[in-house]
Amino acid sequence: MTAINDVVDLTREGEIAVITLDSPPVNALSAQLRAGIAQAVEQAVADDAAKAIVLTCAGRTFCAGADITEFGKPPKDPSLSAVQAVIEAAPKPVIAAIHGTALGGGLELALSCHYRVAVPSARCGLPEVKLGILPGAGGTQRLPRIVGAEQALEMITSGAHVTAKDAAAMGLFDKLVAEGNLREDAIAFAREVIASGAPLKKVRDLDEAIAPARGKPEIFAEFRKKNARKFRGFEAPEACIQAVEAAVEKPFEEGLKFERALFEKLVASEQSAAQRYAFFAEREAAKIPDIPKDTPTREIARVGMIGAGTMGGGISMNFLNAGIPVTIVETNQDALDRGLATIRKNYENSAKRGRLSMEDVEKRMALITPSLALDDLADCDLVIEAVFELMEVKKEIFTKLDGICKPGAIMASNTSYLDIDKIASVTSRPGDVLGMHFFSPANVMRLLEVVRGEKTEKDVVATAMALGKRIGKVAVCVGVAHGFVGNRMLSERQREANNLIMEGAMPWDVDRVLHDFGLPMGPFAMADLAGLDLGWTPENSTGETAKERLCEIDRRGQKNGKGFYDYDENRKATPSKVTEEIILDLSRAKGITRRAISDQEILERCIYPMINEGAKILQEGKALRASDIDIVWLTGYGWPVYRGGPMFYADTIGLDKVVAALETYAKSLGPDFEPAELLVRTAKEGKRISEM
Ligand code: COA
Repeated sequence: MTAINDVVDLTREGEIAVITLDSPPVNALSAQLRAGIAQAVEQAVADDAAKAIVLTCAGRTFCAGADITEFGKPPKDPSLSAVQAVIEAAPKPVIAAIHGTALGGGLELALSCHYRVAVPSARCGLPEVKLGILPGAGGTQRLPRIVGAEQALEMITSGAHVTAKDAAAMGLFDKLVAEGNLREDAIAFAREVIASGAPLKKVRDLDEAIAPARGKPEIFAEFRKKNARKFRGFEAPEACIQAVEAAVEKPFEEGLKFERALFEKLVASEQSAAQRYAFFAEREAAKIPDIPKDTPTREIARVGMIGAGTMGGGISMNFLNAGIPVTIVETNQDALDRGLATIRKNYENSAKRGRLSMEDVEKRMALITPSLALDDLADCDLVIEAVFELMEVKKEIFTKLDGICKPGAIMASNTSYLDIDKIASVTSRPGDVLGMHFFSPANVMRLLEVVRGEKTEKDVVATAMALGKRIGKVAVCVGVAHGFVGNRMLSERQREANNLIMEGAMPWDVDRVLHDFGLPMGPFAMADLAGLDLGWTPENSTGETAKERLCEIDRRGQKNGKGFYDYDENRKATPSKVTEEIILDLSRAKGITRRAISDQEILERCIYPMINEGAKILQEGKALRASDIDIVWLTGYGWPVYRGGPMFYADTIGLDKVVAALETYAKSLGPDFEPAELLVRTAKEGKRISEM
C-alpha cells in the first residue's frame, strides 16, 4: 500500500489498482483529497501491471460532496473538474465503489468514472440546490446523459436522495453488490470488465437518454410551471433547469462551460451564502456547550401522551413513525376515539398518496395504547402533556404525574408560552422536567424547542435532543421565557401587524408584503387558518381588536368560510368588505387618523422588532447562539431559507441600518422599538449578529 498523502492510499490487488479515500467524517472533497485522487489515478495509469482502477472510500460513506467550508473562498488547485478529466481520460476502466451516500461532488466524481457499483444501502443525489447552487462539476451535464432530462430535472432541482435500487433501475449504478463486501466485489466487477474487453464507457459521450428532449423547450416550460410554487423566491432551481436544458441542446464541452458560469454566479449570491449558513446552523444546533456529545442518555422505549387533540395526536405520530409505542390518555371516550380516528385518517391519506403501505398504517396504529386513566402512564419512559394552555391545569397534571411516573421517567410539557420552572416546581423531581415544544402541524413541522429549565438534569436535556433527532426533528435547546424563542419573536410581529391595520394598512397589504418576502403566509391569513375564535368567548370579548369584532359576528376564519378574508368553496381568499368596515370603525373609535403606509414600512415594522427581540433573547442567554434562533424560524415558521433566518437577514441588510431604523421608529412609535443593547453594540463593533 502506498500512501499518496494523508487522505488517499493506492494499492494493487493482482491486476486491479485500488484507490482508497479516507478523510473523515464524510470524505468531503477537500483540496488535499482532490490532489490525492488525481495523483493516485495518474500513478495507477502509469503502472503497467494495473489493468483497471477501483475508487473506494473508507469510513461511513463515499464522498458526501464538495467541502462546503471551501465555498466562497479562493479556489485551490486541482479543481474537481481537473480531477474528473484525469479519471475520464484514463485509458483503463475506472470503477467507483459506493457505500453510504454519494452526494453532490461525490456523485459527480462517480459520474466521471467509467462504471459505478454500489451496495443496496447506498444512496446518491445532487443536493447542491439546497445550498443555493447547482452541481458545478458536470453533474447537470452527465446525469441527464444517463437518466434523461426529466429524471435529471427532478433529481437536480429537488436535491433528493435516490436509493441504490432506484439508481440501478435508472442506469446510474451499473451493478448492486452484496452488503459488507464492497471492495472485493468491486474488484471482481473490474476483472469482469477487463475480461469482457468492452470499450471504455464515458458518460460524456452518451446521447440516447437526452435525444428525446432535444428541440422540445415545452418539457422545460412545463416543469417550471408545475413547480412554480415550490421554487418561488429561489434562484438556484431556475439555474438548474437551464443547465439541464443546455445538456440536451449543447455539445458536452459547451454545456460544461454554461454550467460553470451559472455556478460561479450562484456561489457568490446572497441566497447561497444564506443556505450554506443554514446547513451548518442546523448541525450546530445539536451542540450544547456544557453537555458533551457523549453524555449518557436515558432509554426511551415507551412514550406517554396526555391529550389526543390536534397537538397530542400530531406529536404521537412522530413517535409511532419511529416505531416507539405510545400510550395516549384522554379524559373521555369520545375525545379519545376522535383523536385516534384523526391519526388513522392522516396515515390513510399518506397511504393514498403512496407514501405508506396499508400494512405500515396498521403497524403504526397497533403501537397505540389508548387509555382514560393517567395511572396507565406508570410504565412510560417519557410523558408529554399537551393539554389546555393554563398554568393551573398544567400544575394539576404535573402534581399527578409526580405520583404516577416511575423513577427516572422524563416529564415534559408541550406548552407554547408557560414557565417550565413553575410547572416543574410542583413535582418532587424538577430535574426530570423540561419543555418539549412541538409546532403545528406537529407531525410535519421539523422544529422541536427543547426547553431547559433551571433545574433540568443534563442527561434529560441530552435525551430530549437525541430523541428529537431520532424522530426526524431539528431539536433546538432554549431557555425559559414567555413564548421561548419562536413565539416570543412572533408576538412582536403580531403586535405590529395589528398596529399597522389600525394606522392605515389593510390585512391583505400586510399579508402580501410578508408573502412576497418569502413567508408561506402573512399573519392574518395565518389567523384565519388557525381559527379566529381560539381562546375567544363572547364573555371575554373586549371588542377592541379586529379579531374579536370578527368573532362577535361569527366570522371564525377558514373553518366557516369567513374571517379577515372571505373564502369560496375552494378556500380561495378574497379581501372582505366587512373586515374593512370593522377596521375603519375601530380606527375611528381609537381616534387614529389613517394614513398610507408603504410596503417598506410594513416589512420593517414586522421584521425588525423580531430581530430586536432575537437580540434580547441572545443577550439574556435564552438561546445558545444566534444561528439557533434562525433555525427556529427556518424549521418552525417557514422563514425562507434563502434569507438565512431573521438574524442572518439582519446582517445582510446591515446591522447599522437596522439599528438606525429601530431608533427612528422608537421616536414616533414608542419604546417597543428601542434597539437591544447587544444589537447596538454589535453594529458599533462592525460584527455580525448571526455569528454571536
Ligand atoms: N462539507 C463539509 N463538511 C461536511 C459536509 C460537506 N460536504 N458534509 C457533512 N459535513 C460535516 C458536517 O458539518 C458535520 O460536521 P460536525 O460533526 O462538525 O457538525 C459532519 O460532517 C457530519 O455530518 P452530519 O450531517 O452531522 O452527518 P449525517 O450522518 O447526519 O449526514 C450526510 C451525512 C453526508 C448525509 C450529510 O452531512 C449531508 O447531507 N452533507 C451535505 C452533502 C452535500 O450537500 N453535498 C453537496 C456539496 S457539493
